[in-house]
Amino acid sequence: MTKTLLQQITKMSVLTASLLCFSQVQAQQAPTSEAPTADQVVGALEKLSGVTPGERRNHIIGICFKGNFVGAKSAQTYSRSALFSGTSISVVGRFSLAGGNPKAPDSVKSPRGMALQFALPGNTIHHFTMLNVPVFSAATPQTFYDAAMSNMPDPATGKPDPEKQKAFRETHPDAKPLGEFMAKNNPPVSYANSDFFSIHTFKFINQKNEATLVKWQFVPEDGVKRLTDAEMASAPPRFLDEDLIAKTGKGPVRWKMILTIGEPGDEQTNPTVYWPAERKKIEAGVLTITSATPQKGADCEKINFDPLVMSDGIAPTADPVLNFRSSAYASSFGKRLSGQ
Ligand code: HEM
Repeated sequence: MTKTLLQQITKMSVLTASLLCFSQVQAQQAPTSEAPTADQVVGALEKLSGVTPGERRNHIIGICFKGNFVGAKSAQTYSRSALFSGTSISVVGRFSLAGGNPKAPDSVKSPRGMALQFALPGNTIHHFTMLNVPVFSAATPQTFYDAAMSNMPDPATGKPDPEKQKAFRETHPDAKPLGEFMAKNNPPVSYANSDFFSIHTFKFINQKNEATLVKWQFVPEDGVKRLTDAEMASAPPRFLDEDLIAKTGKGPVRWKMILTIGEPGDEQTNPTVYWPAERKKIEAGVLTITSATPQKGADCEKINFDPLVMSDGIAPTADPVLNFRSSAYASSFGKRLSGQ
C-alpha cells in the first residue's frame, strides 16, 4: 500500500471523528489566546454564507474538467516526482469561485480556484489546489477566522459592520497584500485566460535528496485577460462555465507550469509575502484540458482536493495555513459527503 493511500485512510478516520460531532459544530467565538480549530473556521464560513446541504463550505460554485499533464524532465534537477517523468499523466480537476454563496455570479470580485488531481503510476495521487492570486489573505488560520467574523452581517442591518471591518484591517496587516492585489485586478474573462499560483512555498526534493524551495504558477497559453468594470457589471451569471464548456468543445486548452526557484533565506512559511521578482524561473510542464462538465455528478464533485495529498519528490513547508487547510477541507468534505 502506498504512503498516499495510508494518508487518505488516516484522513478518513479524522473525517469519521468529525462526522460524529457535527451537531456540536457552531461558529463559536474562538478564544483569542488559542488558534481556532478547523471546525470553528468551517463553522464561521457556514455562518457567513449559510449552508447548502451536500455542497462545499467554500468554493461552492465550480465546474469539473479532465485532461492531462506532461511534466518537463528538466524539472528533475529539483524534484524526483513522477510528475516530471515526461510522460502524460491523467488529470481530473475543478475550477471554482472562492466563497460559500451558491448564488454568487461568475463576475464576483473574489479569487478563482484551480484544483488538480494527478493520477500517478502505482495508484498514487497528487493534488495542486491553487488560486488566481499570487499571495493569500492570511498568514495564519487566526487571521482567516477573524476576517470571516469581521464580515458577519450585523443582525440590525443585514450587512457587515464597517467598524468591525475597519478594526480587522487595522489589526491584521497580513491581509493587506492580497487586498491591494484584488483592488487592482478584476476577475478573468475566462478560466482559460487566468493564471493560477501555488501561493505556498513547497520543498522540491531530487534524487540526491537535495531540497529546494519552490513556488509555481500555471500560465494560460492564451494569455491572462481580465474583465473591464463595465464587463463585470453586465456579465451573465455563469459565463465562466459556459465559456469553458464551449472552448473545450472546440479543442484543447493549455497552461504552462512555471517554477520559481527560491534561494536560502526566502520566506517559506508566510503565504502573504512575495518573493523577490528576480528569482530564477523554469518551465516544468504543460497542462492540457480536453473536456469540461457541470459539477453535479461529475468526477470532481466528490473529490477532497486537500493540498497535502502529495507524492514522493514534493513536500510541504511548515506554513501554518497550508497545514491547517487539510483539517478544514476534511471537515467540509465530511459534512458534504453525509448530505449536511
Ligand atoms: C486558512 C486558510 C483556508 C481555509 C480555512 C480554507 C478552507 C476551504 C474549504 C473548507 C474548502 C472546501 C473543501 C471541500 O469541501 O472540499 C476550500 C476549497 C478550496 N480552497 Fe481553501 N481554504 C484556505 C486557504 C486556501 C488557500 C491558501 C488556497 C490556495 C492556495 C485555497 C484554495 C482553495 C480551492 C481552489 C478550493 C476549491 C477546491 C475544489 O475545487 O474542491 N484555499 N477551502
